[in-house]
Amino acid sequence: MERSQWGTRAGFIMAAVGSAVGLGNIWRFPYVAYENGGGAFFIPYLFALLTAGIPILILEFTIGHKYRGSAPLSFFRMGGRKLEWLGWWAVFVSFVISVYYAVIIAWAMRYTIFSFNQAWGTDTQDFLFNEFLQLTVSPGQTGGIVWGVFIPLVLVWAITLGILLAGVKKGIEMANRIFIPTLVIIFLAVVIRAITLDGALIGLEAFFQPDFTAIMNPSVWVAAYGHIFFSLSVAFAIMITYSSYLPKKSDITNNAFITGFANSSFELLAGIGIFAALGFMATQQGVAVSEVATAGVGLAFVVFPQIINEFPSFNGLFGFFFFLSLTLAGLTSLMSITETYVAGFTEKFGISRRKAVVFGGGLAALISILFATQGGLFFLDLADYFINQFGVAAVGLVEVVLVVWVFRKADLLKAHANEISDIHLGAWWKVSLGIITPIVLGYMMFGLLKMNILQEFDTETGNYEGYSNMFTLSGGVAVASAAIVFGILFSIAKWHKNQG
Ligand code: PHE
Ligand code: NA
Repeated sequence: MERSQWGTRAGFIMAAVGSAVGLGNIWRFPYVAYENGGGAFFIPYLFALLTAGIPILILEFTIGHKYRGSAPLSFFRMGGRKLEWLGWWAVFVSFVISVYYAVIIAWAMRYTIFSFNQAWGTDTQDFLFNEFLQLTVSPGQTGGIVWGVFIPLVLVWAITLGILLAGVKKGIEMANRIFIPTLVIIFLAVVIRAITLDGALIGLEAFFQPDFTAIMNPSVWVAAYGHIFFSLSVAFAIMITYSSYLPKKSDITNNAFITGFANSSFELLAGIGIFAALGFMATQQGVAVSEVATAGVGLAFVVFPQIINEFPSFNGLFGFFFFLSLTLAGLTSLMSITETYVAGFTEKFGISRRKAVVFGGGLAALISILFATQGGLFFLDLADYFINQFGVAAVGLVEVVLVVWVFRKADLLKAHANEISDIHLGAWWKVSLGIITPIVLGYMMFGLLKMNILQEFDTETGNYEGYSNMFTLSGGVAVASAAIVFGILFSIAKWHKNQG
């Protein structure tokens, strides 16, 4: 069977940008920057982008392009079973993410409709938790199905799996070619409207106000690296999978720079829009920006509805555009994560794309319905906690150490990238990948383990408030170990005769 390919270079870039630009750009970056030095955060941020984000993106693009397979197959071709498991590990992390990422997109989709008449009323927090999510049971318990979440969730999966069924060129590429330009236009409209609001300047001042002492704080650097990994979708098997569909004659390094800078531009734009809107709300309520600044679920589904309530005019339209932006940004990322295991299963078992989508995607969809029950938020928190704390940085660290130091493939990959790319890789790339990234990620993992073992949770940044530390930790470790065990088991199984 012939391997799927992107139709055009722009199509590939659009898909890679579609994966990178997600909920993280809109609801995560602005707050992370604000909390970690404001304007001064750009120093560690740019450093992390240039020494980890883009170098790893180039690494993954090169691996996918050279070995022409899903992450597990590419790693298998590079180093046999001793490397294949790493691909599966990343694939299982992606599987877990897809399960809960879909749920948040479903909420956003539901909220686009709520926007029209501000169905959330004045107590937006009470509405979210009690009316919309019906979180009436205690953490860890599940109750009945919450239809308001269930229906959009089914829709999210139907759209995503439908697109994947249509294939790489006719499905993923086509969808991104429509979704990404649309997203950019409507999000620009949101940002422009936000910066013309009363008080916008106060918000922007709060966002950009540099705190240069923050740069001396190691945790700020850790935050920058953590965010860059998540935001660029590296170390998730995604970028290897996507680049494996590149035609033989394709540029690698230039595409990686374009993807990286497009993603960063989008988050900078989001930071401006979000903080302008927060400045407006703080002014309306006569409080400081710091009192309303937040991230994640709270920002999107509690604070933003309040902002929309206080809007001078066209509240419904502004809300609709904001939640539609979240939905589109989320869908293009969800496609990319789901494609990692669709591709992996197709190649490993020699099954058709259709079967892989129906069984692999179907399984993820089924599990994610757990989130549409009354105890759902708890699972979401647990999954999110584990992924952000252990998943990404750990896979990234093991990836660079194995590829550069154990299997010593850096020069081989560099030569491959240089042969076909405009921008030639030199010492910068090797030093970043082989030295800077492992040191910073190693430090990060060490700090995380220490924090978890000593149970010094920082309740400010976590999503696990209210749950017992031991429970969260054992849950996280259980998911992490399960992912590795799955990885090893899958590597033991033989590749279907057409592959490997
Ligand atoms: N890059 C996405 C974002 O910024 C997050 C993501 C990570 C999506 C991994 C898919 C997979 O939101
Ligand atoms: Na991103």
